[in-house]
Amino acid sequence: MRPVRNRLCLGLDMKTLTIRQPDDWHLHLRDGAVLRAVLPHTAAHFARAIVMPNLVPPVVTTRDAAAYRERIMAAVPEGSGFTPLMTLYLTETSQADDIESGFRDGLVTAVKLYPAGATTNSQSGVTNIEAVYPVLERMAAIGMPLCVHGEVTDPAIDIFDREAVFIERVLEPLRRRLPELRIVMEHVTTSDGMDFVRSQGENVGATITTHHLIINRNAILAGGIRPHYYCLPVAKRETHRLALRAAAISGEGRFFLGTDSAPHVDPLKECACGCAGIFNAPNTLACLAHVFEEEGALERLEAFVSLNGPAFYRLPPNERRITLRRYDEPVENERKMSVGEETLTVFDPMFPIHWKVEE
Ligand code: NCD
Ligand code: ZN
Repeated sequence: MRPVRNRLCLGLDMKTLTIRQPDDWHLHLRDGAVLRAVLPHTAAHFARAIVMPNLVPPVVTTRDAAAYRERIMAAVPEGSGFTPLMTLYLTETSQADDIESGFRDGLVTAVKLYPAGATTNSQSGVTNIEAVYPVLERMAAIGMPLCVHGEVTDPAIDIFDREAVFIERVLEPLRRRLPELRIVMEHVTTSDGMDFVRSQGENVGATITTHHLIINRNAILAGGIRPHYYCLPVAKRETHRLALRAAAISGEGRFFLGTDSAPHVDPLKECACGCAGIFNAPNTLACLAHVFEEEGALERLEAFVSLNGPAFYRLPPNERRITLRRYDEPVENERKMSVGEETLTVFDPMFPIHWKVEE
């Protein structure tokens, strides 16, 4: 890939960083009122997003995807060139022909594998991986990516170990059996995940979320239980967060941003059995600029948010540019949004945010 130069201006009291417009390679947009409330935040900054199919009922067939795409397009603010990249939810009765036709028509970009019960709305997911091998074989043959929620659901496995055990029990055998299948390990959270991805050929990539670069498990559990930091895969201990940071800032082509922005209205988060998911779409880029600046790696932010993902998905990078500006004083950030009668809480990175995407 041709090297792209960032413009980084250092002034007395400001800094700007101009990069190609980013894409989000893992996003939950939901439906109805929540869709209409959250989509403008993604569309304001991102050109494209891989849209997760875990609606109720899930987006299983190309017909479901076409209908969902229409609902998304109807919610895209005027003047925004946002393009949703649709995914299908893999079930044990998914049809290879239907999936292939959606991919060939350009309607569907990828298929998502949820182990049944692993996360929000995953009850229709896969229990027996053998049952979906015919579909996976077809995908391997046509070059269609499989996005994987990489956690086992075995209740005997500690929740903090579920990613590492998934690699051993599911991913390694899958790679041996179908080495041509293009795989994205979604929202990777452990150094085991990093090691696995790096040990594989170039057809294995991984998304890293904004929040997993910022929080470790203390954010959820130390000094009180904080449901707005609870997501799946659950944040791990600090050594893992540091490994994720090293990968994100490394510029390595196989790691790219998937925000996993996953809105749930506050009553569903702040209760005795709260939903997993962190809503970070509004401030993701500002938070990432902070992280990359802190790491002295601002010049590699563009690779992570705008270049590596398109290269993996075999799409051109965006031509438009966006500019991030750093302010001396912290920038005001919206912390609660309204959705009808309810509120939705935006991810709080626990540091003052100094960056802002220029309008
Ligand atoms: C996601 C959701 O709410 O849909 N939740 C989450 O904690 N990340 C599902 C997922 O990506 O696991
Ligand atoms: Zn997700």
